[in-house]
Amino acid sequence: MCGIVGYVGSRDAAPILVDGLRRLEYRGYDSAGVAVLGDDGLQIVRCEGKLSGLEGCLATKPLKGTTGIGHTRWATHGRPSEQNAHPHNYQGVAVVHNGIIENHLQLKQLLRAGGHSFSSETDTEIFAHLIASELADVTRSKGLEKNTTGNGLLAEAVRRALRKVRGTYALAVLREEDPSELVIAKNASPIVLGRAEGAWLVASDVPALLPYTRDIIFLEEEELATVRADHVELESFDGIPIERAPTRVDWSPVMAEKNGHKHFMHKEIHEQPRAIADTLRGRASVETGDVHLEDVGLDEQSARSISRIVVVACGTSWHAGLVGKTAIEQLARLPVEVDLASEFRYRQPVIDESTLVIPISQSGETADTLAALREARRLGAGSLAIVNVVGSAIAREADHVLYTHAGPEIGVASTKCFTTQLTALILIAIRLGRLRGTLDSGQARAHLENLSKVPGHVEEILGREEDLRSIAVSVSSSPNFLFLGRGSSFPIALEGALKLKEISYIHAEGYAAGEMKHGPIALIEDGLPVVIIATRHGTYEKALGNLEEVRARGGRVIAVATSEDNDIGSLADDVIWVPDGGSLVDPILAVVPLQLLSYHVADYNGTDVDQPRNLAKSVTVE
Ligand code: M6R
Repeated sequence: MCGIVGYVGSRDAAPILVDGLRRLEYRGYDSAGVAVLGDDGLQIVRCEGKLSGLEGCLATKPLKGTTGIGHTRWATHGRPSEQNAHPHNYQGVAVVHNGIIENHLQLKQLLRAGGHSFSSETDTEIFAHLIASELADVTRSKGLEKNTTGNGLLAEAVRRALRKVRGTYALAVLREEDPSELVIAKNASPIVLGRAEGAWLVASDVPALLPYTRDIIFLEEEELATVRADHVELESFDGIPIERAPTRVDWSPVMAEKNGHKHFMHKEIHEQPRAIADTLRGRASVETGDVHLEDVGLDEQSARSISRIVVVACGTSWHAGLVGKTAIEQLARLPVEVDLASEFRYRQPVIDESTLVIPISQSGETADTLAALREARRLGAGSLAIVNVVGSAIAREADHVLYTHAGPEIGVASTKCFTTQLTALILIAIRLGRLRGTLDSGQARAHLENLSKVPGHVEEILGREEDLRSIAVSVSSSPNFLFLGRGSSFPIALEGALKLKEISYIHAEGYAAGEMKHGPIALIEDGLPVVIIATRHGTYEKALGNLEEVRARGGRVIAVATSEDNDIGSLADDVIWVPDGGSLVDPILAVVPLQLLSYHVADYNGTDVDQPRNLAKSVTVE
């Protein structure tokens, strides 16, 4: 989730690039950089930290030139630092990139064997090396001089380099010898072109372009464009030319920043298919049933030396831990304790060298989770953190880190980070199960196949948003809600209740459905909305029993059920259907409609969805 900009025209590129990056800072903000081509050749300035740092550097070292690319980074490979900031340059080929190169380890190894050395920890630098090498080859094979310009040379080199890369990318490339053009390419990460007076601009999102143009060309998958000041040439990765006229967009700058969504939370809910796919990318092989987490310390020896796991986390991340407990205990037969980080640090926990502590945190900065990690390490435990923000405090202090690749989450209510945390935990469970011999390869393959289908299933659920909106509107004036679930749906009930209360300020309780008779059943009265997660796995029959109990007392039942479940349709007042994804991934599918339900209740009631009262995105104090 980085921000990319590019410019080819007649004006000074640097201020336009920085202005565009400022409008894309919501896509990432741990470092930034620009590369400009002018009379002084290729000039690159990069800075760690927010864009203001880059602006400071540029004030002391202004760049002159009318062609350039820029980048604001959200780290995925390599911590935030000047060295890892984009653009990356190799032999006069400068590159900015948004996405993940899946086969980066193999490519780096191959390039190293061919004499290349790398100056950053990023996967992106590989593009610069590959493209520069291909450019040299293409030029040589056509019998051209090294500094020949035009001729589609850069586009051909990019096309050839991309054949070697597996992964996702929006890419902008320039070449020192030829200031007249940029090449951009897209595979799964967004990139757009904008036509302005005497110039073409490039950006990963529309808002960067709005001050200059509203005539936009959206690149589709596996398309590449050569961008010049007076025209662009669009083609497929196979080199087939494509004709596409610009579309006129009438978005306001605020709408554009949210990519047309009314709130960041809504945008982030809709980003989940991509975020989950990115978290799986390069880590799971459906064909072999293998999960590749060697790089986070989960090897055979460590898996066998762990006697128990302790998860520490807060809020939504704690709910993820509770789901993870079920998955790890089931697949790896290891006992898992899940502790609220704020409790763990004060209760003299029993920890030793054979304990693996897993802190889970979106921000990686939550004070209680960080303190719990420190305490566990002090007592001798090994640690593997699940974190979204690369280079954050928890990521730095844990022995190993498994990053969720959700991208920046701006809405205070966590959504895409929760589902990517669940994805990461399921990967850990499968990996541990395989290493400990409690899961055979056939079972692992089946689970990974189910996991690989989750992005598509989530897409399908998001397609039913209008039904959810109607349900939300019909219950939006209720002062109380109850959420019930059993097994791994219990934490989803907790999460559904948390989402609703934090953004709509409506009182909501999450309960283990089996606990209902022990107290909460007293709350049920005519019309009380009771959300029951009753998907077709585990304790389905029992959930149906609870549903009947709620109905008998006049509660209004909203059931989350597996598609084609005919029984439940006649029992519940409303049913939210989710695809049958298999028991392990059920919690991921069940939570998405609850996120949308909360979102639409809050939106209908007019509360501040993205910045609810009294809350902060990252809780860095105790
Ligand atoms: O950044 P973290 O995951 O450590 O944050 C933990 C909680 O503060 C966070 O999940 C909070 O509960 C969210 N507002 C939930 O939507």
